[in-house]
Amino acid sequence: MHKHGVIIQGSSRSQGNTNKIVTFITKKTGFDIIDLKSKNISNFDYDFKNQDDDFIPIMNEIVNKYDTIIFATPVYWYSMSGIMKNFFDRIADCLKIEKELGRKLRGKAMGVISCGSDSELKKGFEMPFVESANYLGMCYLGNFHTWLENETISESLQKELNLFIEKL
Ligand SMILES: Cc1cc2nc3c(=O)[nH]c(=O)nc-3n(C[C@H](O)[C@H](O)[C@H](O)COP(=O)(O)O)c2cc1C
Repeated sequence: MHKHGVIIQGSSRSQGNTNKIVTFITKKTGFDIIDLKSKNISNFDYDFKNQDDDFIPIMNEIVNKYDTIIFATPVYWYSMSGIMKNFFDRIADCLKIEKELGRKLRGKAMGVISCGSDSELKKGFEMPFVESANYLGMCYLGNFHTWLENETISESLQKELNLFIEKL
């Protein structure tokens, strides 16, 4: 049931706090991880002179292998990380030149995991995900906010994470 999901990790460190949450989820779901930090994905380019970087192959893999796509990002300045935003910018390639890829996103499920230092996530964080899912014709599953206490996932957060995972 959980075989066809992927977590796209957008932290500036591969083994950081976001990864602790991602690892917790993958252990329970068997979802795969794509670590954007380890990939070469350049900024959006109006002239599309970056088509030989890692973006198109990753996007092909995502649309062909998975039905559920979870974006896991640290909270940097009340927003998704720059690495994650860069990835979203590049999804514009799928609307302009790789249209088949864009079409294949339709109907897939999108969820978001945020990881901050604070239990409070400020208003506005979620909006780009909600609206992007809407624009891309994806089914939005919601945002689950996490934070670590003394480098660990608290027991109460683990319980809530388990409930979120069950719904995926
Ligand atoms: C550039 C930067 C900006 C940050 N801004 C916020 C913020 O606005 N709100 C918050 O709760 N935490 C903020 N933090 C803390 C991180 O979200 C938190 O430490 C997170 O767990 C880091 O995850 P990571 O190890 O995957 O990068 C910020 C950290 C950095 C490096």
